[in-house]
Amino acid sequence: MSTLPKHVAIIMDGNGRWAKLQDKSRVTGHQQGAKSVREVVEYAVSQNIQFLTLFAFSTENWSRPKDEVSLLMKLLVTYLKKEFTRMLQNNIRLQTVGNIDELPTIVKNELHNVIDKTKNNSGMVLTLALNYGGKEDLTQAMKAIAFKVKNSIISPEKVDQSTINEHLYTRNLPPVDLVIRTSGEERISNFLLWHIAYAELYFTETLWPDFKKEDLQKALTNYAKRERRFGKTSEQLTT
Ligand code: IPE
Ligand code: IPE
Ligand code: MG
Repeated sequence: MSTLPKHVAIIMDGNGRWAKLQDKSRVTGHQQGAKSVREVVEYAVSQNIQFLTLFAFSTENWSRPKDEVSLLMKLLVTYLKKEFTRMLQNNIRLQTVGNIDELPTIVKNELHNVIDKTKNNSGMVLTLALNYGGKEDLTQAMKAIAFKVKNSIISPEKVDQSTINEHLYTRNLPPVDLVIRTSGEERISNFLLWHIAYAELYFTETLWPDFKKEDLQKALTNYAKRERRFGKTSEQLTT
């Protein structure tokens, strides 16, 4: 059994609290958070992680103050512009999950640009979950399947787990092996519900702006010690 997770997904949390502790604005917290993204992405590449998925903006995050939402969108554009060359150097392929159509045009344009220019890269797949919600993802998939059933493209008897999987935003991703959440919160917050069905969960008190390569290494070491049984007994796995 592989001790290295193929797909790592991170709920990057604690930017606001990090800023508060330093007596700084939330903006500064998010800017520092972007630096952690860079370090963690590059470390994941160096460790041969094949898929890294980062929760960057949830469907619920629209409820934040308007100024913070627009700042997060601007930061995203800045991040994409700044990191683009390094993504090419690191052979990273960028993709997104979530309802991208609802994002501001400048964000959409920059995303399309980077996705297009990195599409032939063969290294790590970096997926940004943007305007993503697990429930919304399942809902849009059910809706698409319902239309196909209505138009006799799929027969209801044929609907199985792979049908659902194929209609999710996350259809191009393998199941998540390891979920990491920073900042001490121990919840999923509507992240990849379907894809985390059998993921190992790792929670750390470290706030996202303080999360660096050593922290990711610690999470990977912890993961390597776990026994993933997938319903079987421990004995079955060793024989
Ligand atoms: C995570 O940090 C960033 C996003 C959700 C976009 P938070 O902004 O949630 O930080 P806290 O939870 O307020 O500390
Ligand atoms: C989850 O963090 C979303 C992202 C990391 C983008 P939140 O900080 O929004 O989560 P809750 O609302 O505290 O659970
Ligand atoms: Mg938070």
